[in-house]
Amino acid sequence: MLPCLEKVYQMVLQTQLQFLDNEQILQIRLQDSYRLILKKDYLHIYNKDDPFISLLICFPNLIQWYVVKDLLIGFSINGYEFTSHQGNLLKKLKTLLGGRMLFSKVQDFFQPQKVLGSGSSSKVMGVTEKESGNQYAAKCVKKEDMSFQEIEINNQLQHPAFVKVKEVHQGETSFYIVMDLLQGKTLQLFLGHHKPFQLEQTKQIMHALLEGIEFMHSKNIMHRDIKPENIILEVKGGQVRLKIVDLGLATYSTLKKFKNPKCGTIGFVAPEIINLQNPNHTYDKACDIFSCGVIFYRLLTGRDVFPGSKFSYVFELNKKCNIDFTYLTLQKLPVNLTVCICIIEESCLKNVIKRSQIETYSHLVFESRIFQEHSKIQCHPKKARVFVVQIAHC
Ligand SMILES: Nc1ncnc2c1ncn2[C@@H]1O[C@H](COP(=O)(O)OP(=O)(O)O)[C@@H](O)[C@H]1O
Ligand SMILES: [Mg+2]
Repeated sequence: MLPCLEKVYQMVLQTQLQFLDNEQILQIRLQDSYRLILKKDYLHIYNKDDPFISLLICFPNLIQWYVVKDLLIGFSINGYEFTSHQGNLLKKLKTLLGGRMLFSKVQDFFQPQKVLGSGSSSKVMGVTEKESGNQYAAKCVKKEDMSFQEIEINNQLQHPAFVKVKEVHQGETSFYIVMDLLQGKTLQLFLGHHKPFQLEQTKQIMHALLEGIEFMHSKNIMHRDIKPENIILEVKGGQVRLKIVDLGLATYSTLKKFKNPKCGTIGFVAPEIINLQNPNHTYDKACDIFSCGVIFYRLLTGRDVFPGSKFSYVFELNKKCNIDFTYLTLQKLPVNLTVCICIIEESCLKNVIKRSQIETYSHLVFESRIFQEHSKIQCHPKKARVFVVQIAHC
């Protein structure tokens, strides 16, 4: 490089660095003399050095993207339109804002494929990202049913048992939550055969499920709708990978008052929720452990804890929480598994206080070495030993 050009280059670099203070994540040159600066929680637009727009990065704030021939050329915020020649930086901006505020025009970025599943409030479609060809799942939720808390909670759950939200788009009547695509089947489909699961798989499922729940609970979040439709399993070479989906009813357990306090699914919901009289009363995150117990029973016996084809009948059984344990005792189970049944099926299902006490570390019981018959207490991690002692007192 010629010495004079090098000097100019250094000067340009210097000026750029002056703009980039420590908090700045990204800077993009826009049309005329506008520029965008992305900070941790704010997006700022300046005209020369004068502040023009400041927008908090949160829901339901919206950024509308402009795409021409699949290329990102600009965006609008609060009705102001901006363009930039720095297409790659716009792409980076979109990635950094994904899942943190609303985007528009899902159809500009994703091609719909087949329906993957549906639930009480949504339909989930497979979609292909036009630019990369990558596959994702898009949950379509009617505007009136949408709670942005579902996304905010999801963003806090960075753990292998939960999916990552990529983007949230606003359409005319619905929102589209674009997230990791799961290739497996719901536990509900696996259970459809009405047979008990093999012990090794039961152990793997319960371990992964309780580990995910424990992580969630460590953030003071409770799911409130743990059931086989909301658990997706990938079984490869005898190994089970499990994901917990659907945070539509999830909430913070530390709140003084819950939104939709009486919620969940009949047949899986904890008795303290189904019998809740006063909507101002709260309950504990141990409600999720109850639902895990119901799933555990189903995996071991191939039967429902609260069986019946009539809704009102199952509702009554669930309310009274009368459980028939004979099917469990009929199974030929390893000693430690019988202990697990004691925790999860007996004390836990009936007694909320005990359920919340022994919740901690319960997933460790399902770790292979602890799960084996005649396994030795000495080889348990310290935490598990505490847990085993607690079981003994149940
Ligand atoms: N990320 C995903 N990948 C593949 N399928 C999914 C994904 N998320 C959900 N599903 C399927 O869509 C169904 C409905 O999704 P869910 O989030 O449970 O919606 P709802 O809140 O309406 O119950 C699930 O039971 C599952 O079959
Ligand atoms: Mg669901």
